[in-house]
Amino acid sequence: MEPSHPDILRIILTEEQIRSRVAELGAQISGDYAGEPVLLVAVLRGATLFVADLAREITTPVELDFMAVSSYGSSTKSSGVVRILKDLDEGIEGRHVLVVEDILDSGLTLKYLLRNLASRKPLSLEVVTLLSKQGKQRVPIDCKYVGFEVPDEFVVGYGLDYAELYRNLPYLGVLKPEVYSE
Ligand code: IMP
Ligand code: MG
Repeated sequence: MEPSHPDILRIILTEEQIRSRVAELGAQISGDYAGEPVLLVAVLRGATLFVADLAREITTPVELDFMAVSSYGSSTKSSGVVRILKDLDEGIEGRHVLVVEDILDSGLTLKYLLRNLASRKPLSLEVVTLLSKQGKQRVPIDCKYVGFEVPDEFVVGYGLDYAELYRNLPYLGVLKPEVYSE
């Protein structure tokens, strides 16, 4: 398939591949929670498109909340410094919490987030990430649901950005190198 955007070098996951995998994840999650309400905690802003689609594939009662943490700014390397920019609107004590992430890279963001959320005493705490970068995790993260393993390249689309752009692409693609150097 030809990329529909001039800055995209190649597509690594098509709209259709993403849709069918998200449906599988939704079915698996629905089975695991077996009718129990689950609070989806989406990590802003990259996970917004994923959580919108995933929530509609889950048949167990779903609640939604959002957290924003600082990670990359406009660069493509993890800073390792994590800060809460927006906290949850409600408490999570005694609730089933499922953190929804766009991509697991170094794992530093999730490690911080999970430690922080665990201290609030949820009934259960799991992670679903759409993407996981092969061989990149600097800290071990117990991620129960992984959509796709992707190669160690900077990817954009379906919520993921470079300098806040490309989030609206319906597929996942690799940027042309000249876009970084401009
Ligand atoms: P980590 O802390 O290194 O695991 O970084 C996780 C966060 O970095 C993700 O939630 C993304 O916001 C961002 N990120 C990491 N890799 C990529 C990528 O290839 N494209 C876009 N954003 C990325
Ligand atoms: Mg993110």
